[in-house]
Amino acid sequence: MNERIAIVGAGLIGRAWAIVFARAGCQVRLYDADPHALATCLQLLLENISDLAHHGLIDETPVEVLARITPVPTLAEAVDGAVLVQENIRETVEAKRAIFAELDQMAAPGTILASSTSWLMASEFSEGLPGRHRIMVGHPVNPPYLVPLVEIAPASWTSTEAVQRAHELYSRAGQSPVLLKKEITGFLLNRIQGAVLNEALNLYADGYASVQDLDKVLKDGLGLRWSFMGPFETIDLNAPKGVIDYAQRYGPTYRSVAQAQLPNEWDPALLARVEAERRTELSAPQLAERARWRDNRLMALVAHKRQQAGNDS
Ligand SMILES: NC(=O)c1ccc[n+]([C@@H]2O[C@H](COP(=O)([O-])OP(=O)(O)OC[C@H]3O[C@@H](n4cnc5c(N)ncnc54)[C@H](O)[C@@H]3O)[C@@H](O)[C@H]2O)c1
Repeated sequence: MNERIAIVGAGLIGRAWAIVFARAGCQVRLYDADPHALATCLQLLLENISDLAHHGLIDETPVEVLARITPVPTLAEAVDGAVLVQENIRETVEAKRAIFAELDQMAAPGTILASSTSWLMASEFSEGLPGRHRIMVGHPVNPPYLVPLVEIAPASWTSTEAVQRAHELYSRAGQSPVLLKKEITGFLLNRIQGAVLNEALNLYADGYASVQDLDKVLKDGLGLRWSFMGPFETIDLNAPKGVIDYAQRYGPTYRSVAQAQLPNEWDPALLARVEAERRTELSAPQLAERARWRDNRLMALVAHKRQQAGNDS
């Protein structure tokens, strides 16, 4: 692919999107309102792209990929000729409303305008804009060059044509888009993550297990399977005759558990206990080093999944 892509905001997520599209062959223009962010982004990008090369996750040299990313000093230069503008500025509804009003005025009529927002709905920041039919959410998972899911969440007024084009662009760039059929706060991933997190907090609060053991339930249990299949395929395979068979065996118990599951209040005292348990496992100064360990584990897993790609679907 060789289309021009505009990335607005050169923070953590904007830079990661730049890598996704440059790796796929696109010409990427990257804009940030903060000159310091623009001045430092190429060095940060080179470090991330070099890590990918180290794990065999790019086919070119890091410098060849980086050469397709151009930081530009104005929004107009970024947007000019772009088929897609991917917005990644700070997460407030006022900031998103202001930037989308500007982008809608500036961008050519056929340009798709997508926001990386984690929680806001497209209708909250595109209402009233003349080009609202080409505005949507394209929510990535950090970092999108390793975790391919993109949640496309259109407003009721976003056109099917714009959604299809965004779906096709993200797919060709190597991402794995999913489409929300209607708007909801938190989209799909953060809602499912929230359900798991709330239940883990409840089990901890009620004294059923330690923080360490609750983490193990995912990393040595559910998570192994979840890296290649979801909850529906899991239950389809966990009873000999599929989903209905599974539901007949275990459904009544799941239902009574669900009825007893309370919402969690995210009580500060409870979170302080969780934090204290985590700090006995990992001291605060070790957090950054452990985050790098996580990224390396993730890259090794992505490399493994690529090798297995033929067996994956
Ligand atoms: N961090 C994550 O894990 C994550 C994951 C998915 C989605 N997101 C979403 O991505 C977006 C960006 O998050 P981030 O973590 O990259 O934040 P960040 O703070 O790292 O980067 C934001 C960048 O936007 C720039 N900026 C602010 N206002 C601007 C404007 N008006 N015009 C141009 N640039 C402007 C800032 O200078 C900064 O460089 C947010 O909407 C966030 O919810 C974040």
